[in-house]
Amino acid sequence: MRLVRYPEPVLMKKSEEVEEFNDKLRHFAYKMFEVMYRHKGIGLAAPQVGILKRIIVINLTGNEDDEISLVNPIITKSTGSQIAEEGCLSFPGIFAKIERGEKITGNACNLLGESVDFEAHDLLARAIAHEVDHLDGILLCDKMSPTDKIALKTELRKLEKLYAKGTCNPAS
Ligand code: CO
Repeated sequence: MRLVRYPEPVLMKKSEEVEEFNDKLRHFAYKMFEVMYRHKGIGLAAPQVGILKRIIVINLTGNEDDEISLVNPIITKSTGSQIAEEGCLSFPGIFAKIERGEKITGNACNLLGESVDFEAHDLLARAIAHEVDHLDGILLCDKMSPTDKIALKTELRKLEKLYAKGTCNPAS
């Protein structure tokens, strides 16, 4: 399983709902955590490993007990506002100030297919909103302020050139 980086087209596509909750799904989520830890991330969405399924994994602390897997997540309510620097494993070296809701509520399935309501604040709310965006093909570069877009233009171009050369994705 390899990490997909901007601007690979799979990142811009909409993911499909998961319908079967089986061992294959649970193994896939386990592999996603592996990729996320290897790249020192706190969240990862399935399109970032090239799979267009609505699955996200998050771990803010790195402790196994804090692993969160959400399948078919929906954010039903987002209130308040927080602005902070945000990164993305698919945009190595790029950080942009992004506005997100301060508190979100929503619903998802766990890896067993059970319905779970969730409520999150601060960084966890930010992480969930970021990963759910991935499932709709919405990326960091789509959420950046015009100022950041100009400031980060060179960095974005670097990733585009690496992709054009076919060197941005060593099998890792
Ligand atoms: Co991301």
